[in-house]
Amino acid sequence: MKFFIDTANLQQISEANDLGVLDGVTTNPSLMAKEGITGHDNVIKHYLAICNMVTGDVSAEVISTDFAGIVKEGEALAALHPQIVVKVPMIKEGVKALKYFTDKGIKTNCTLVFSAGQALLAAKAGATYVSPFIGRLDDVSTDGMRLIEDIRTIYDNYGYQTQILAASVRHAMHIIHCAQAGADVATCPLSAILDLLKHPLTDIGLAKFLADHAKGK
Ligand code: E4P
Repeated sequence: MKFFIDTANLQQISEANDLGVLDGVTTNPSLMAKEGITGHDNVIKHYLAICNMVTGDVSAEVISTDFAGIVKEGEALAALHPQIVVKVPMIKEGVKALKYFTDKGIKTNCTLVFSAGQALLAAKAGATYVSPFIGRLDDVSTDGMRLIEDIRTIYDNYGYQTQILAASVRHAMHIIHCAQAGADVATCPLSAILDLLKHPLTDIGLAKFLADHAKGK
């Protein structure tokens, strides 16, 4: 399973990248705003800064909601850097745009996916990635992981090549369950990735090994 980091924070992207396990980055307008990145030119500069820090795919989200606007924005984003993946919302005009981008060879990430039917449409339109938001489903008493499992079954039934990019990941167990369910990618906060490291027996074991080694000095 690929690990993407779900942030626009350059320091966190750098820390995840230094760990050597980072395969890409996802952003959205809220994550950009959280870092104080506003205005078209600043947002574009920030995407380029991210692309220059990592080697994998970097999702850049369109703001338009009409077909012509999504296409214009998406083509401009894709032209910025070969690592850019155009992030398109799961709306009617978005599905049309996904198909357009697919035909043009432009990589896409279909975002704001909350049902298997939406994921099926994204795959039919040829999306490179589909982003089911598991945490936001859990927030409304709906099993986000069940959606990942359902999409995996549907895609495997027909051999759809669209990659399942589990989004809205909130904690380490989400990452484990995504891997068990066969998600292709999990996009995670840095904290959830680092939490995978933790086990008290590792800490206790290491302290003992170091203490025993020190006895011989
Ligand atoms: C990533 O592509 C999504 O935009 C993001 O994971 C949403 O996460 P949130 O539900 O924590 O805002």
